[in-house]
Amino acid sequence: MGTKILIIGANGQLGSVLTEELKNKFGDENVIASDLKERDNYNGIFEIIDATDSNRIEEVVTKYEINQIYHLAAILSAKGEETPLITWDINMKTLFNVLEVSRRNKIDRVFFPSSIAVFGEGAPLDNTPDDAYLNPATVYGISKAAGENWAQYYFLRYGLDVRSIRYPGVIGYQSLPGGGTTDYAVDIYHKAVLKEEFSCFLKEDATLPMIFMDDAIRATIELMDAPKKDINVRTSYNIAGISFAPAEIVAEIRKLYPDFKVKYEPDFRQEIASRWPRSIDDASAASDWGWKPKFDLKDITEVMIQKLQEKYKKGSRNKEILMF
Ligand code: SER
Repeated sequence: MGTKILIIGANGQLGSVLTEELKNKFGDENVIASDLKERDNYNGIFEIIDATDSNRIEEVVTKYEINQIYHLAAILSAKGEETPLITWDINMKTLFNVLEVSRRNKIDRVFFPSSIAVFGEGAPLDNTPDDAYLNPATVYGISKAAGENWAQYYFLRYGLDVRSIRYPGVIGYQSLPGGGTTDYAVDIYHKAVLKEEFSCFLKEDATLPMIFMDDAIRATIELMDAPKKDINVRTSYNIAGISFAPAEIVAEIRKLYPDFKVKYEPDFRQEIASRWPRSIDDASAASDWGWKPKFDLKDITEVMIQKLQEKYKKGSRNKEILMF
């Protein structure tokens, strides 16, 4: 039987782009997108799923004879701090539902995204290794650290082939992030292209690990394509893209928009960022499944500005309609 994929959280920053890539790879009829609400103008098979409802996940899995699940729904780091217990409930309940439905239905492969948010005090800030001490200070980070261990548990106990990446901040022109600490690095490009002043919620020297969307999607697909015997990390793989601080991205943007204005107004998200790594050691991903990023800050800036200029020229100034 061929590959039949269910994507949960298909309307999100990563999900919306990953869905298109998986459709290109496996064919429109083999990729079922799902989220809490239908996406406007979505071209493909779509099911409404609230992933806190395991019966509903199971219904869709059975209906389409799904054999791979990508579970991308979660409440991110900054948003999660508004309602810690609700965030914990949603992030964990949806994961348990996916793991249980996958176990019961003998799903071949499951993808569960983790994050640099699993790190905190006690992990080295530079070149943080996979197996650094995990001491997250956000509820999102706690849910991802716990989730990684549950993923490994389902692998060890039931043989469920769950695979995971700790994403750095993801930067792409196709979609918008929501509720994260690294979101500034997407927003800043929109403001530059709209010729508006940018207010940065991090300090100018707050270096964080980031990755371009193309690299993040390629990493996901390469990990999911890798032979099972090569996957030695069953919690989650570190992957690196590049690392930079707000001042560096501003300097790069000013090469193209010399008058770009920025003010720094750090808020609680600076606290979150200060505990996250500045750079990541991804040696295991490199040796197990050949991971290597392609885009540096200069490449990212050029592509982001060019694509956003095209989008804003074509349409309205409303960012919400930018998703393809
Ligand atoms: N981009 C995420 C966030 O900022 C990190 O996984 O919450």
